Amino acid sequence: MSQNLRIPLPHPAADTPLGHVLRSRRSVRQFSGTPITLAKLAQLLWAAQGITDEAGKRAAPSAAAQYPLRLYIAVGDVSELPPGLYAYDPQQHALSPLETTDLRPALADAAIGDQPWVNEAAVVIAVAAAVTAIDTHFATQQPDGRRGARYAYVETGALCQNVHLQATALDLGMVLVGGFDDAAANAALPLSAGEETTALLCLGRV
Ligand SMILES: Cc1cc2nc3c(=O)[nH]c(=O)nc-3n(C[C@H](O)[C@H](O)[C@H](O)COP(=O)(O)O)c2cc1C
Repeated sequence: MSQNLRIPLPHPAADTPLGHVLRSRRSVRQFSGTPITLAKLAQLLWAAQGITDEAGKRAAPSAAAQYPLRLYIAVGDVSELPPGLYAYDPQQHALSPLETTDLRPALADAAIGDQPWVNEAAVVIAVAAAVTAIDTHFATQQPDGRRGARYAYVETGALCQNVHLQATALDLGMVLVGGFDDAAANAALPLSAGEETTALLCLGRV
């Protein structure tokens, strides 16, 4: 078959609600510095890991429904919520307070190069993966035993895109920061044993 053959495709439905959000999504690195509401933060967390049916399945897919991802939320400027670090509990759709320190500066320090938007975002959602446990779960699927980690990284991407599209629909800006020093980011967060940071989602009003 000719490599030059092109079969024209039907036009994408870019004027549907989802099409509009997909077309509008961009990485945003400049924030107004004004607070986001707790309701919008709640919506973002639900889009990330919220329970969406009676079986306990979530908004983002997960290999064998193992759900190895955990969200740590570094709050800076959220109305009705003091600055500090929180964990998201999907079952209760609630936040667990972990620390009263604003961790945005520490996460900005962990970023590779100068990435001021990490500190200037109203909130940074740090995604962490229970890599050791998920590698053990999927150890028989691949001889080197790293299939679980691969799934966790893929799931991080799906979660990030959910949040990015939700942020776009809420008129919030977001940039996914994957460029960070692993040891520094892991040290900044009170991770459980076997967890590692996989993404920093910087969100705020534009
Ligand atoms: C895995 C991954 C890592 C990224 N890491 C960073 C980062 O560390 N800092 C940053 O400013 N943008 C980061 N980005 C955002 C990209 O620069 C951005 O998606 C790209 O320029 C395309 O622009 P768009 O998102 O506006 O379409 C990352 C994106 C991905 C998918």
